[in-house]
Formats: sequence, structure tokens, C-alpha cells
Amino acid sequence: SKLHIVRLKLLFGCKDTKIIPFMQIICVIYLFFITLQRKSTRLSTFDIPLSTQMIGIFDSGYGGLTIFNHIRQRLPQYDYLYLGDNARAPYGTRSFDVIYEYTLQAVNHLHQQGCDLIILACNTASAKALRTIQQRNINPSEVRVLGVIRPTAEQAPLMTRTGHIGVLATPGTVASESYVIELQKQNPNLTITQQSCPMWVPLIESGEHIGDGADYFVEKYINELLARDPEIDTIILGCTHYP
Ligand code: DGL
Repeated sequence: SKLHIVRLKLLFGCKDTKIIPFMQIICVIYLFFITLQRKSTRLSTFDIPLSTQMIGIFDSGYGGLTIFNHIRQRLPQYDYLYLGDNARAPYGTRSFDVIYEYTLQAVNHLHQQGCDLIILACNTASAKALRTIQQRNINPSEVRVLGVIRPTAEQAPLMTRTGHIGVLATPGTVASESYVIELQKQNPNLTITQQSCPMWVPLIESGEHIGDGADYFVEKYINELLARDPEIDTIILGCTHYP
């Protein structure tokens, strides 16, 4: 802050030392805003490296194409490589270790293909593998890996009026509590109720989601969620297959 005081003195042509405490206050305010600005830049959910030409999108299957379509609409200037692990889906009922291993393989593959920004469109992979991969496996100056839970958790609190949010997701995402943790970081006063929907992905994967039987399971999970908290006015579809 000494340097800033010197700069401000030069700027205002100030020789009067009485004015320095006033300058210091200005400096502190200035530094406070610079820090806030840096913080918000660092927290940006779409922090794209300047060198990025190709963005990798990963999901356990085709469901993540919903995410991919929206990203491509917003950022048409990039090339994209989409990887859907249909061979090993569903991920939603698998253990932490297995999801971590599969997701890491996908991240490494997309990086080897030339992606230096990789988005885990899969909620289950974002919930169970993202943090470990970010902490253990990647060098952020070479490749950046982002997930979908945090951006969703940033938006949902802006939409609710009652402060009661529901989360429909795979058993793995629900068990990880990732949505609860991220939503409460946004606003600790939110009431969050989760409902796992183990039948939805198998119904969609087998093409049965348009059959009569699907209605039963769609209503079942939504009704169970709303019965547990009738004040819910915002529901997160926390799985790429659901939209
Ligand atoms: N794509 C996964 C997700 O968004 C769900 C599908 C699966 O279970 O593989 O959570």
C-alpha cells in the first residue's frame, strides 16, 4: 500500500502529509475492490484458457449432448470433442472408485486429443470424481477440468422464491451430497431436499421413457420429493438424462 500512496501522491500532486491517512483509506478501498474483482474472476465458472481451441465434453452416455448443445450455442468459436462412455454406463449406481477411474481415463483421453478445457457434463462424474481429479491428477496450467454442479448451484438460488429447492439425481449424485454442499455455499438458509431416481436412467437408456410405464416412475419420484417438502418451488434436474 506504500507504493499506492506514492502513486496517489504523484497523481494528485499532493505534498501535504495530512492528506495521507485519507489516501490510505482510498488505497484500502481500491485494494478491496481489486481483491473482489480477482476473486470473482477466479470463481468464474467459465474460465477458459486463452490457448483453448478445442473443448472436450464428457458424459457417461448421450445425455450430455443436452449440455453440449447449450455450450456450443453460447461459444460457437471453439471446436468440440464429445466423449460419451455408453459402453460402461450407467455411472449413477457405481462406486466412487470406479467413477473416479473411468472419469480420469476420459479426461486423459480428451487431453491427449488436444482439449485443454474439459467439461464433465455428467453430474455423477462431477459429484464423485471432479474434485479428486482437480487436486491429484491435473496440472491446471496444461488442462482445466470443470463440472456442472457448481454452475447449477449458482443459478438455482436465484430462481427460488420460497428458498426450498429439490434435487432429482442419480443415487451416486445424491449420496455425494454435492448439490447440498454447493447450494448451501451460495445460501446457507436454503432448504434442500434430494430424491434419487434409480429407475429413470435405465428407462431412458432402454428407450422405455415414452412408454406408459415411464409415467408411473416419473410421477413416483416427483411426488415423493414434493411430499417430503411441499414448499419446494425449484427443482434441479441433476442428471444429463433427465432434460
Ligand atoms: N450422465 C449421468 C449424470 O448426469 C447419469 C447417467 C448414468 O447413470 O450414467 O449423472
